[in-house]
Order: sequence, then C-alpha cells, then structure tokens
Amino acid sequence: MQSNTFSGLFDGRNVITLQRVPSTNEYLKDELSKSTPLREGTVIMAVEQYAGRGQQGTAWQSEPGKNLTFSLLLMPSFLDPKHQFRLTVAISVALAQWLESLLQTPVTIKWPNDMYVGDRKIGGILIENILQGKIWKSAVVGIGINVNQTEFSPAIGAHTASVKQILHTDCDLTELMTDLCRYVERSYQGLKNGTYDAQLAFYTQHLYRLGELHPFLVDGVRVNGVLSGVTETGRLQVDFNHHTVDFDIKEIAFVI
Ligand code: BTN
Repeated sequence: MQSNTFSGLFDGRNVITLQRVPSTNEYLKDELSKSTPLREGTVIMAVEQYAGRGQQGTAWQSEPGKNLTFSLLLMPSFLDPKHQFRLTVAISVALAQWLESLLQTPVTIKWPNDMYVGDRKIGGILIENILQGKIWKSAVVGIGINVNQTEFSPAIGAHTASVKQILHTDCDLTELMTDLCRYVERSYQGLKNGTYDAQLAFYTQHLYRLGELHPFLVDGVRVNGVLSGVTETGRLQVDFNHHTVDFDIKEIAFVI
C-alpha cells in the first residue's frame, strides 16, 4: 500500500464523513448547487448509504459501516467534454491498480468501469459530469467497493466479492479510502500531464473477457462474440466472425 498521508489534491482537509445519507453522489451534487464553492478534491464518505445509485439507474446496496461508499469532486476543465471517456479510463485504472496491490490478485475492468475478481464484482464507479457550455466544470466520481461485507443478497451473492472474502481479514475503511485517493490522484495528474495513451493501454489490457469468446445479449438476443477493445469515445468493440461492431452501454449486456 502507499503511504497514508494525503498530498496535493486529496490532502485530507476536505474529507466529510456522514453517518447516514441517501447517496454520496446526490449529496455532493446538492452541495455543488449551493453558493459556497467546493474545493477540487473534496471527498464525501458515508458510513451508511441507504439509497446508493449504480450505473443505468440500478441501486447500489451496501451494509452500513462495512464498505467504502464515497464520492470525490474533480474539475477536469482541462479536458474537452467530448473526451469524457478519458476520465472513466483514468479512474478505472486507479481502482484496478489499487485493488491489485491490495489483494495481490488479478483484477479486471468489466466495461465500462466495474471492478472484477474472476467472475465476481468487487466494486463500481458512477461518474456524473456537470458541464457549463463547452466547459467540463466538474465531475462527481462515486466509488463503491465491497470491503468487510461477507454476506450478500441471494440475487447478487454468486457474482459479488469483497476484500474480506479474499484477504480473510477486516480492513480499516478510512485507511483504504486514503490509499485509494492517492491512486486516483496519481492517475488524474497523469491524465492532466498527457499519459492518457498509457492509461488506455492498461485499461484495454485489463478488460474483463478481453479476447475471449463469450455470449452477449444484443437487443435481447444471445450472440457469441469476442470482446476486442473500446473506441475513442468508449464504445465497446466486439468481433462477430471477424466483423467488428461497437456498442454503447444500452445496446449490449454481458452474459455472466
Ligand atoms: C455501479 O457499479 O453501477 C456503480 C456503483 C457506484 C456506487 C457508488 S457508492 C458511492 C457513490 N454514491 C452512489 O450513490 N453511488 C456511488
């Protein structure tokens, strides 16, 4: 793990821990809409998040006090809004690298930004962007990682993992959050300093099921294809008999 002290963006002065909140993303967006400006690097962490949100309108469930549920404020005005996928890549790479170092086991990124160990999801990211005209004003980066929870509802249990299930020990959530924020900061600074190509290479190499033949659901129809990469705008590329088709998130689903 990296050292415990914050520096630069996430210097620890702007970590707000809330006992109980519907959703840290919603809370941070509400705060942003108020007149007092928030500093880039502000972190909203919840002990209990009772109406957590996932991608595509799904719910994110987390047992109170057991997991990481937090949101970070970034201000990526250095990026053209048409490059929104680059932030997804930078944050996904940070999480995957942090998880691999913590767990000492391979972690893959299920497109676009779920964290997987084997065929089980251990964490997810919900990035909500706030644009002002052509300027990318802010990004609320919500991160959920299953840490000390070991029992999950039957509906998701078979496809869900936690840090404790892998390391067989409880972890301190504040320490983990601090360490993870350092990875996010490093990746975000890398994005600012022009290392996106390397980040995209890492992201692509770590894609869940890259280069493997698997079934997908396309318009509700089950078809076999080989996941081959992503386009510049973040569409998923799948080869069907050497004919490549790209999809957005509403157009294709993995069969797991
Ligand atoms: C997903 O896998 O679909 C994304 C999950 C993101 C969950 C986190 S928990 C903290 C933040 N607040 C939310 O309501 N969602 C994100």
